[in-house]
Amino acid sequence: MQSVTSDATFERATLLPPHDSMVNRLSLLVDLASLLTREVDFDALLATACERVAEALSAERATIWLVDAEHGDLVTRVAVLPELPALRLPLARGIAGWVARTGETVRIADAAIDPRFDPSVDKATGYTTRAILAVPIREEPSSGAGREPGPVRGVLQLLNRAPRSDASGAAFDEEDEKYLVALANQIARALSLTTLRPADASSAGLTLRGPFNRIVGRSDELRAVYERVTLAAQTDATVLLRGETGTGKGLFSRAIHVNSSRQAGPFVIVDCTTLPAQLVESELFGHERGAFTGADRRVPGKVEMAQGGTLFLDEIGDLPHDMQGKLLRFLQERMFERVGGRQTLSSDVRVVCATHHDLERLVSEGRFREDLYYRVRVVEIEIPPLRARGENEIEQLARHFADMYAKRYGRPSPVLAPEAVALLRAHAWPGNVRELEHWIESAVVLAPDGRIGPAHLPRARRPPTAAAAATSSAAAPAPSDSVAIPIGLTLDEASRRYVTAILDACDGNKAEAARRLAIGRNTIGRMFQRDSEAGGEGGEGGASGQEDA
Ligand SMILES: Nc1ncnc2c1ncn2[C@@H]1O[C@H](COP(=O)(O)OP(=O)(O)OP(=O)(O)O)[C@@H](O)[C@H]1O
Ligand SMILES: [Mg+2]
Repeated sequence: MQSVTSDATFERATLLPPHDSMVNRLSLLVDLASLLTREVDFDALLATACERVAEALSAERATIWLVDAEHGDLVTRVAVLPELPALRLPLARGIAGWVARTGETVRIADAAIDPRFDPSVDKATGYTTRAILAVPIREEPSSGAGREPGPVRGVLQLLNRAPRSDASGAAFDEEDEKYLVALANQIARALSLTTLRPADASSAGLTLRGPFNRIVGRSDELRAVYERVTLAAQTDATVLLRGETGTGKGLFSRAIHVNSSRQAGPFVIVDCTTLPAQLVESELFGHERGAFTGADRRVPGKVEMAQGGTLFLDEIGDLPHDMQGKLLRFLQERMFERVGGRQTLSSDVRVVCATHHDLERLVSEGRFREDLYYRVRVVEIEIPPLRARGENEIEQLARHFADMYAKRYGRPSPVLAPEAVALLRAHAWPGNVRELEHWIESAVVLAPDGRIGPAHLPRARRPPTAAAAATSSAAAPAPSDSVAIPIGLTLDEASRRYVTAILDACDGNKAEAARRLAIGRNTIGRMFQRDSEAGGEGGEGGASGQEDA
C-alpha cells in the first residue's frame, strides 16, 4: 500500500519569482478561508489546499496527514477513487508521526541525517526527500483550558523547497515556518467546524467518516450514495434523488451542487409542494409586467435565477400535471418563455430533483407524465431509510447532532447515557434523520447539564419498560389532551385528524407541529394541499420556502 505516492502529495511543476509567491501566499489564505466555510467535498478541498500550499511556498510536495482517532494512525485523505484505501502511516514512524505525537514543528535541511526520518516511503517511490517542514494542525485551546495547547488533528508537511531565483537556498526558512503555522491553524479551525471533529472535542485526532464534511454516516448503504453523488457531481446530468421523508435528499442535493463545477453559481430551490397550482408557472419561468392582475413588474423565474448554477426541484412528484409538459420542454431544450411573454429564453442550469413518491405508481395512475419521468431519472440515487443503515449509524448521527446542538445552544459537551443510546438504537425512525435530529435537539435543550438520559427523549415513543416509565413520569408530564379517532377511517383521514389536533395544540404553528410529529413541514403542507388549492390560504406566502432554513 505504501508503494504508491498518495494523491495528497502534490508535485510542483513551475517556479514562481519571490514577488508572485508573496501574492500567492496572501491569496491562498483568503481562498482557503472562504473555501473552508463551505460545504465541499473535504477530500477535494484538502487536495486543493495541498496544491496551493506547495505553490505558495515553492515546495515540491505538500501533504496533509490527518490523525485517525479510531485506528490511531496518520492518513492522507484525498480525491483518490472511493474504493482505494488512503495512504496510512503509523504514528510511531517518520517525521509526520513525530510531529503528530509531540505537537512540535520540524524544520530540517537534510532528512538523511535525522534519525526520526523514515526512508521507506522514499525507497518505494524513488523520490529523494531532503528538506522537510512539518507543522502540527492543532485545535486552539478552549478558553477554559488555560495555556495548554489544543489536541493535534493532523500534520501539514512540505518537502524540498525548490531553489529560488534569489538563490536563497533549498531549505525552508523561518518565514516559511511562520506562514505554514498560520495556515495549519486555519485548517484546524475549519476541521473543528466539520463532522470530522471527535464528539469529545478535547481528545486528539479526528473521526473520519464519509467524504462530505457535513454528512455523517459510513455504512455500506451510505457509501453507495456517496459514490453516486460524487460521480454525478462531475457531470451536468439530471439527477433524481429518491427516499423517504427526512433521509437527507435536501442535504445531498446541495452536496451535488457544491461539489460540481457550478459550485460558485447559484443553488436555487423550488419546492413543488408549497406552490399553489396557479403560481407554479410564474414561479418557475417568471412573468412579464401585466401578465396577470397584480403583475406590476417583470419578475424573473427560478429557472432564470439559477443561470450558471443548479436548480433543485424538490418533491417533483407534486408538480401539477399541466406544468409537467412545460418543465419537460425546458429539460429537453433548456428553453422557456416568461408568463405573458413572447420571447423564447434559455438558461444554462443543472437540474436536480427529489421525491419521496413512488413515481412509477404516479405514472401508472396517469398523475405523472411518463416522458417527464424518463427525463428526470437520468441518474437515480436512492437514499436508504435510516433503519436500513444499521444501529451504529443511528448512534453516530445522534452524537453528531448532540454535539452540534450543544454548541448552538451553549450547552456543555453532551454525554449520552447508555440507556438513552440503547433506546435510540432500538427505535424504528419512521421520520428518519430529521426525526432523530429533532429528538436530540430537544434532549440537548432539556438537559442543561449535558447529561442526556432516556427521560430527555420524547416520551410518546419510548418503549414501555419499567425503568423508562419510572424516569419519564418525573421528567415529562403526560399530555392532558387527547384525540378520539374512530375505527373505520382511512389512514389518510385518520392522519389528517391527528395532525389537525396537533396543529390545534400548537396554536396553528406548523413548524412546532412538525417538530412534535417528527415530520417535515412539507409533509403537513402536502396533507392539506388539496384544501388550499381549492381556494384556501395558498402556499404559505413565499412559494419556494426552504424547509430547513
Ligand atoms: N447523513 C446525514 N448527516 C447529517 N445530517 C443529516 C444527514 N441526513 C440528513 N441530515 C439532516 O437531517 C435533516 C433532514 O434532511 P433533509 O431535509 O435533507 O431530508 P429530506 O429527505 O429532504 O426530507 P423531506 O422528504 O421531508 O424533504 C436535515 O436537517 C439534514 O441536515
Ligand atoms: Mg427535503
